Amino acid sequence: MTIAEFTSASMSLALTEEHEMIRQTARDFAQNEIAPVAADHDESGEFPYETIKKMGALGLMGIEVPEEYGGAGMNTVAYVLALEEISKVDASHGTVMSVNNSLVCHGLIEFGTEEQKQKYLAPIASGKKIGAYSLTEPMSGSDAGNMKTRAARSGDHYVINGRKSWVTSAPVADIVVVFAMTAPEKKHKGITAFIVETDKPGFVRGKKEPKLGIRASATSEIVFEEYQCPVENRLGEEGEGFKIAMTVLDAGRVGIASQALGIAEAAYEASLAYMQEREAFGQKIGQFQGLQFKVADMKTRIEASRLLIYSAALAKTRSKTTGERYTLEASMAKLFASETAMFCAHQAVQIHGGMGYSKELPVERFFRDAKITEIYEGTSEIQRMVIARNELGLR
Ligand code: CAA
Repeated sequence: MTIAEFTSASMSLALTEEHEMIRQTARDFAQNEIAPVAADHDESGEFPYETIKKMGALGLMGIEVPEEYGGAGMNTVAYVLALEEISKVDASHGTVMSVNNSLVCHGLIEFGTEEQKQKYLAPIASGKKIGAYSLTEPMSGSDAGNMKTRAARSGDHYVINGRKSWVTSAPVADIVVVFAMTAPEKKHKGITAFIVETDKPGFVRGKKEPKLGIRASATSEIVFEEYQCPVENRLGEEGEGFKIAMTVLDAGRVGIASQALGIAEAAYEASLAYMQEREAFGQKIGQFQGLQFKVADMKTRIEASRLLIYSAALAKTRSKTTGERYTLEASMAKLFASETAMFCAHQAVQIHGGMGYSKELPVERFFRDAKITEIYEGTSEIQRMVIARNELGLR
């Protein structure tokens, strides 16, 4: 994208009344319903069923799902605005929301059959059921095409065997989009996607991961032991799985960038407030130039992240008509926003001093939560690889 196009893309982002409405709805919900319980859930690691269900009822779990399939029928800009507001108060809720919206609903909309959409989209988009996405394995994270889980066709079903890891929402999910090898000799072209119902024999939830951050979002392994998946639950064709996984991750990365922006803003706003209140050496600490420079760096990176996210959201919207990939925009937004979240959370702890290290304030939670945005849905190193390959024409 040229600078002129970029500027015009950003300028054209005059938010509609509908955008303002969903942003306000998400903001109010986060303040009134999530803020009072966020610290407790972080401490206990208990999944916030109640608030997630309420988010579903508000339409936040399937924002881009067409209304005919039970969703809110809005666009990607609406989605990023809402996810930013939720994550600003609690990144754990943001994670569950992001997986449901981007990794599950988006994949079903793009690649599902009419029957699959009818059956699975409405309950997930309304938050009555929870979705998960399972690509990673113990020996293949970044090298996603190198998976070992097998799916062998046997009559009218596939038999799945293997072990998946780091599956967000797996301990609570009703439906998981799973990627498995149907033709290992074809490497990434032998991967196929499946919609797996978790209440069937052979689906075993593994140990829940004890995590540094986003502790209220549940993560675990999944073990498949002779799991029988009906052929009608195959998502796309045999061998299309890797392309589906990557296409869906492009959408996911726009979401994680918005989650990161929310965390960055939370850390920034807490820092501003503290600098205007805390005194040292006879003056407010906001008077010190050393800390003012931190404010300038945080604010500038936050606004740059926002523009990259809006640019990616617009590119994703455009792709619906042009069919063009927005891989570059999604990776740049995720890379920059996640590193901004980590930067701002780090600065916020430093500005708060001892109080930043204490569980009495949410700042230490922002710090722990920010880190995952540089890791999941493709590490910062993978995003740099994707961006550079794109620019060098190596994709
Ligand atoms: N969209 C569509 N197709 C794509 C694509 C995209 N974004 N990226 C690659 N492809 C296609 C390529 O065009 C190519 O197609 P052909 O074979 O037809 O030519 C094919 O996929 C293989 O592409 P590459 O050769 O580039 O594949 P690679 O093996 O080198 O891997 C990679 C590329 C970018 C490193 C990729 O493996 C990757 O993104 N890795 C990171 C995985 C990741 O993000 N994991 C997180 C999982 S989810 C999670 O975090 C947990 C959770 O629950 C939230």
